[in-house]
Amino acid sequence: MGDITVKGGIPLYGKVCIQGSKNAALPILAASLLHEGISIIHNCPRILDVENTVQILREAGCLVKWQENSLIISAGNIQNTRISSEYATQMRSSVIFLGSLLGRMGSASIPLPGGCTIGKRPIDIHLSAMENMGVRITEENEMILAKAERLKGTKIMLRFPSVGATENTILAAVLAEGTTIIQNAAQEPEIAELCRFLNEKGAKIKGAGSEKIVIEGVRSLQDSEFVLMSDRIVAGTYLMAAMSAGGEICLEKAPIFQMTAQLKVLKEMGASMRYDKDQIQLKAPRRAKSLAMVMTRPYPGFPTDLQSQLLAVLCRAEGRSKIIENIFEGRYQIVPQLRKMGAKIEIISQEAQIEGVEKLEGTAVRACELRGGAALIIAGLGASGVTKIEDSWFIKRGYEDICGDLRTLGAVVG
Ligand code: UD1
Repeated sequence: MGDITVKGGIPLYGKVCIQGSKNAALPILAASLLHEGISIIHNCPRILDVENTVQILREAGCLVKWQENSLIISAGNIQNTRISSEYATQMRSSVIFLGSLLGRMGSASIPLPGGCTIGKRPIDIHLSAMENMGVRITEENEMILAKAERLKGTKIMLRFPSVGATENTILAAVLAEGTTIIQNAAQEPEIAELCRFLNEKGAKIKGAGSEKIVIEGVRSLQDSEFVLMSDRIVAGTYLMAAMSAGGEICLEKAPIFQMTAQLKVLKEMGASMRYDKDQIQLKAPRRAKSLAMVMTRPYPGFPTDLQSQLLAVLCRAEGRSKIIENIFEGRYQIVPQLRKMGAKIEIISQEAQIEGVEKLEGTAVRACELRGGAALIIAGLGASGVTKIEDSWFIKRGYEDICGDLRTLGAVVG
């Protein structure tokens, strides 16, 4: 995927089906390593981050096969606990293999993680949780070396409800000796989904989705077949796309109950919405209303992964809006690109002040990371003329076929 070209000013109409969740797929693939047998995962999104994770599983010794959107993973024979930098440095979530390799093999060597360039993104919370469970950690040539004779359940208080650290601790605890209690755990739905997957394999996890998770260690897991939930961020991205382009769209297989904060914000911007089982119908207003203030927060707050897409819509809203980014300090890299299109945005530390303009102008812009890249498509849909997005491969990390989906809705994009 080289450049994406978007012709602006065409309203969207029609139905689109939401892909499986990226942020649930990644820890679940890592979790499949814990079981010396078969895990089948249906509705798995065919995106770059999943392909990379599949390569890491293969490198460890798993046999992995795709059948359309289903992954069949056989982890009977793990020989390698060292993850090479080839795939791991491309995405931060590779750090999730720390917990699963330790849980299965008692050792792991992981390159310092890469991923989106959206801030410092340290992993101190992950490492301190592992140390609490009896893991010895050293660092050598940009690699983290972790070893434990036997992982031991204990009480762990996370200093911040980090999504990745909560998942890593769960993965390390499933086969550990005794009970692990995670306090101040992240409450994101993707964590509940990981626990649902593990419990179906015979793990004993309680409290997933709350701030206290209790994991009673078990000796082994069993074969299983699992259907992955839909992606709430992809669903939100498409709703924002309709807000930018105008029109009326329907999402099928939308995880409505995980989208409360974003649906509230869309309503405040003037969208009219109807819900029916797992369908969301959105009719965009002629022009979006501005928002006095939106803050990103850990779930159930407004997700940082939708902040750039919201920003792209607010650039053309009626009046002044304010966004405060509380999760990642580097999430405003899209701003200079939006300014090139005529947006009026001022950044003061973690706060963005947006003066809505009547129109944006299509021009050449550059994606710097995954969600910001998707947000540039959204800006382009509502701009006059043609927007060309360079380095659009970032978008492939999380969206199976964003251009195909938008074309289904009538957009001229590709
Ligand atoms: C996950 C999601 C990502 C989402 C984010 C927040 C996946 C694969 N990625 O990322 O899409 O944007 O949750 O909802 O699920 N932090 C530390 N030390 C640590 C860990 C995190 O300081 O050890 C900080 C980070 O720098 C960041 C904040 O905590 O500022 C949130 O990070 P975290 O919740 O861990 O996000 P990820 O798991 O990386």
